Amino acid sequence: MRKKVVAGNWKMNTLKDDALKLASEVVNMAKDETPADVTVIMGVPFVHIGSVKALVGGASNVFVAAQNCHTEESGAYTGETSAAMLKSYGVDYVILGHSERREYFKETNAELAKKVDIVLKHEMLPIFCVGEVLEEREAGKQKEVVGQQLEESLFHLSEEEIKKVVIAYEPVWAIGTGKTASSAQAQEMHADIRAMLVSKYGSDVANEISILYGGSCKPSNANEIFGGADVDGGLIGGASLASRDFIDITKSY
Ligand code: G3P
Repeated sequence: MRKKVVAGNWKMNTLKDDALKLASEVVNMAKDETPADVTVIMGVPFVHIGSVKALVGGASNVFVAAQNCHTEESGAYTGETSAAMLKSYGVDYVILGHSERREYFKETNAELAKKVDIVLKHEMLPIFCVGEVLEEREAGKQKEVVGQQLEESLFHLSEEEIKKVVIAYEPVWAIGTGKTASSAQAQEMHADIRAMLVSKYGSDVANEISILYGGSCKPSNANEIFGGADVDGGLIGGASLASRDFIDITKSY
C-alpha cells in the first residue's frame, strides 16, 4: 500500500524563531489531529534543519526534508551542502528537481539523476518534482515533458530504488499563482505518471509509489484534489507556512 504524504516546502522563508514556532506547532498538531496513516513532512531551509529535527524528536508521523543537496560527496564547493551532511543531521527526505531550482539554478535532468543517486546512497528518500510550464501545457506537451523528466532522472533506478522515491507533480503554472490545476487535470497527469511507472517497472512496483500534487494546494481544495485515484497527497508551499492550514490539509483525505 502506497503512503499518503503531505509535505510542506517552506522554500526560502522563516527566520529562526518563526521556524521553530511553526515546526513545534506542526509536530504537536499532527500528533493530535493528523490521521496515523498520513506521513507529514516539513521541507525546511538548511539553516533550520538541526533545530527542527530536534523539535520533531520521536514523533511517529512527522519527518524532515531538505530542499536540495549537492551532487558530490564533499569538496571545494563553497556554499553547498552534501547529502552526507544532511544524513548526519538525521534528514529523512530531500526535495529534488523543484521547478524553481530548474529555472533559477538551471538544474538539468542529468544533474538531478546524480542527486537522486547520492540521496539514495545516503539512505534518505527523494521527493522528486516534475511538471510543465504554461507554454508546454498550452501546447499539449505536458505528458511528453514529464515523461522526459522521469526517463532521464529516475528510470535508471532499480525496482527497489524507485520504490523509495516520492514523486511530486507540480504544474509550474499553478505554483504560487493561486491558479490550481483542476482535480481532473491533476488526476489525468497522475494517471499518466502511474502508467509510465507501470510500463517501466510493472504494476506491483508502480502501485507502491506515492505521487503528490503541488501547486496552490490549500485546505479549501485539498480534499477534491486528493480524491483522485492516483493522487496520494500534496507538496505544499504557501499553505505550509501556517500550521493550521498545513495540518488541515493533512486531514483532507
Ligand atoms: O513545492 C511546492 C510548491 O511549489 C507549491 O507552492 O505556494 O503553490 O503551494 P504553492
